[in-house]
Amino acid sequence: MSAIIGVETLIIMVIILLLSASWRLYQRRKYYRSVTSKFPVICGIPFIGAAYHVFDVNKLFKNISNGFDIMKTLTGCMWVAATPYVLTIDTEIIKHVTTSPEFLNKAPDLYTQFHNDILNGLIVSPAKKWKISRKALNPFLAHNNVVALFPAFNQNANNVKNKLARLAGQGEQDIFTIIKDCGLQLSLFTIMGLKLEEGSEKHRETMWAFNALADHMAMDLILGWLGLGFLSRTPHYKRVVKSVRKIVRPLVEENLAKPVDSDDINDFEKDNKTLIDLALKAFRQRLFNEKDMEVECFTMIAASYETSVGAAYTCLVLLAMHPEIQERLFQEIRSVYPDGITSVEYDDLKKLPYLDMCVSEALRLVPPAAFIGRQAVYDTELCPGVILPKGTQVLLAIYVLHRRKEIWGPDAHRFNPDNFLPENVAKRHPYSYMPFSKGPRNCIAARYAQITLRIILIHTIRSLKFSTTFKYEDIILVPKVTLGFKTDPPLHIEVRTN
Ligand code: HEM
Repeated sequence: MSAIIGVETLIIMVIILLLSASWRLYQRRKYYRSVTSKFPVICGIPFIGAAYHVFDVNKLFKNISNGFDIMKTLTGCMWVAATPYVLTIDTEIIKHVTTSPEFLNKAPDLYTQFHNDILNGLIVSPAKKWKISRKALNPFLAHNNVVALFPAFNQNANNVKNKLARLAGQGEQDIFTIIKDCGLQLSLFTIMGLKLEEGSEKHRETMWAFNALADHMAMDLILGWLGLGFLSRTPHYKRVVKSVRKIVRPLVEENLAKPVDSDDINDFEKDNKTLIDLALKAFRQRLFNEKDMEVECFTMIAASYETSVGAAYTCLVLLAMHPEIQERLFQEIRSVYPDGITSVEYDDLKKLPYLDMCVSEALRLVPPAAFIGRQAVYDTELCPGVILPKGTQVLLAIYVLHRRKEIWGPDAHRFNPDNFLPENVAKRHPYSYMPFSKGPRNCIAARYAQITLRIILIHTIRSLKFSTTFKYEDIILVPKVTLGFKTDPPLHIEVRTN
């Protein structure tokens, strides 16, 4: 019986896919002609696409990379389902796209997971609204505010370290769940001022709701690429959205009820520890409405959570797989903290160049945002002699860019922090490495993210030693909300004694 239902479901899915593809094709025929006539197809079968590769991104990336090589081009056309996209790994074109006002809008098809009722904030806002929101929220990530968050960053890192230490000597263990739990708590605290009591009912409910939301977003992303995003909006998804709103809404209301301090509302730079403080100021200045306040807080949590925890876990996994690099990093950290760590201060970070190199290398090989997508606001020139029509979606293939052999050498796939020795960095085009994107629409929280990541690594690597039998060559990457491991490598932990 279940097999029959399976076949029926499959047939219905195929019919829906074909109908949706034909409808898109009809609506966008002029656009198709203009994209496909200007660029060679480097990946995907016309009108069928390459989306079936999303379950094994390694293969998708390999195909894209081969496509660029075979066609001897750095910019081509990629079919995803029934849509052709301009896909580029050309550093000059990437520079143009990320810095030009005509590409300030995001490519809608790449961000379907954010186009719901609660996450459609800064990440996907159209340029006009984005400018207002970015200006209002920027002070949250300003230097002084980030430095003021150091006690929270240290507490989070210490928490991660203590929880991981409890797994020591127990064989290879899942450490990602712990990193995710602590990462979400940090995001909720720094963004919303919400402190969860460890192990409480509210803690459990919150973890469940945000993780379920992340799972739905991952599904949204895949279905969105297939042009079937509407299929992901199931009753369960709606229940999950309701649950996360139940957590955030009271905090927004609590803030709205605060008395207005008229001196304060025009001063966006003053004393803003949390993002919601700034959102409230924007509300009182009539830049945001109530809904915007809620949406921008959600968006910031969604943007921070998966990226940061994924990056921290990736760094630890890659260090566990490369013991000699981990040892060198440990020695560097120990030289700065010979007697152990009570707290990491801002100036300490300048004394740890090898840590910077390890983090940069991990984000090169596994950039949380594997693609960045922009859309032409009007007809515009992409490069000399190539005019793109308004609405063209241009995808920057960050993962492939970060592994281009002409830039990173024949061992581009190897984990080698020396790629970030100053003399090597100086030789490269500045747009050949961009885990946080670049230009005015780059990651608003790059500094926050870089610091939290370093503080977690300092606390953990100083006290713990990681190893794994999982081989680097066996890693398969898959798109979750961000790029992640198909199988999360478990790690063995030892507590260091010196
Ligand atoms: C290692 C961690 C992180 C990485 C690698 C990362 C990477 C990125 C990238 C590549 C973009 C541009 C996306 C695009 O154009 O498609 C972006 C945007 C953004 N990120 Fe991050 N991010 C990280 C952490 C964070 C954190 C911790 C926060 C919040 C506290 C955050 C908030 C945002 C927001 C709000 C945007 C949209 C900015 C805009 O459009 O103006 N990110 N991030």
